[in-house]
Amino acid sequence: MVSFPLTALTFALVAPTLALPRAMTISDSASQQPTQLCGTDDSVVLTDTPWIIYNMFYNAAQAKGTQCTNYESVKTGTGGNKNIVWSSVTNIDYVSSTSNVPKGYSFIGLTQNLETQLSAISSIPATYDWTRTNTTAFKGNICFDFMTSDTKGDSTSTSAQELMLWLEYTGGQLPIGWGDGAKATASSLYGTSWKLYQGVNEDTGITVSSLLPDMQFDGTFSGDIKDWLMTLVEAGVLKESTYVNVGNAGTEPFYGNAVMNATLGLQINL
Ligand SMILES: *[C@@H]1O[C@H](CO)[C@@H](O)[C@H](O)[C@H]1NC(C)=O
Ligand SMILES: *[C@@H]1O[C@H](CO)[C@@H](O)[C@H](O)[C@H]1NC(C)=O
Repeated sequence: MVSFPLTALTFALVAPTLALPRAMTISDSASQQPTQLCGTDDSVVLTDTPWIIYNMFYNAAQAKGTQCTNYESVKTGTGGNKNIVWSSVTNIDYVSSTSNVPKGYSFIGLTQNLETQLSAISSIPATYDWTRTNTTAFKGNICFDFMTSDTKGDSTSTSAQELMLWLEYTGGQLPIGWGDGAKATASSLYGTSWKLYQGVNEDTGITVSSLLPDMQFDGTFSGDIKDWLMTLVEAGVLKESTYVNVGNAGTEPFYGNAVMNATLGLQINL
């Protein structure tokens, strides 16, 4: 059977109030045809991969338009790690009153080797290649989003932490805690310097620590995600004994008509 923390996946991220996935499909990448997931809470677990592909359109009620997360294929990259080819298609009108509200999260989530102490993880190799074509003004980002806690499996209590690594952002999106200024800097990680912003997500009560690059990534990222988490250990945000309970990579749209095509590799190696 597939083992992944269902509630964790559901409540992680910026979406605190969702019910459990309604339309979760269990499949494998050999039999799974290219699929469009356009519901408010649609997902497919690919059992022969480390992933669930997920369309979490959690603020659909505040969106005038649609958000789809589309599965294309899984392939084996150089080095033997699997990659998933997917896309995120948004057609969301700009509405001034909700322009600062993230409408959803389109992502690939980990299902394997979670709920492990950071100290027991040997590496989290990641590659994220994307292109985004927008035909109207677009606001949103490209990010990794992990949840940790000193309690195994916890991603919902206020002791859990949400950690974001933004690779690219456009249209004026700002991290939680921006107004307080940077809490720390990291001088050298993945070839650039970074600033750490921190604040409480008022919907979840969970502290969000967002690391933003001084130089944004331009469609290509490759690195060991453990290096980011260890940078947060050095900054005093986490302990090395903390549990990595949820991990994923995706895009958070606010508005705009855009197609993001992506190829992602992401896995936890123990
Ligand atoms: C794409 O989005 C960016 C950021 O909102 C905007 O500056 C740009 O004009 C948009 N492109 C088109 C063709 O609308
Ligand atoms: C990009 O995504 C769109 C929407 O899912 C898809 O129709 C198109 O084939 C993709 N393009 C490539 C090059 O994968």
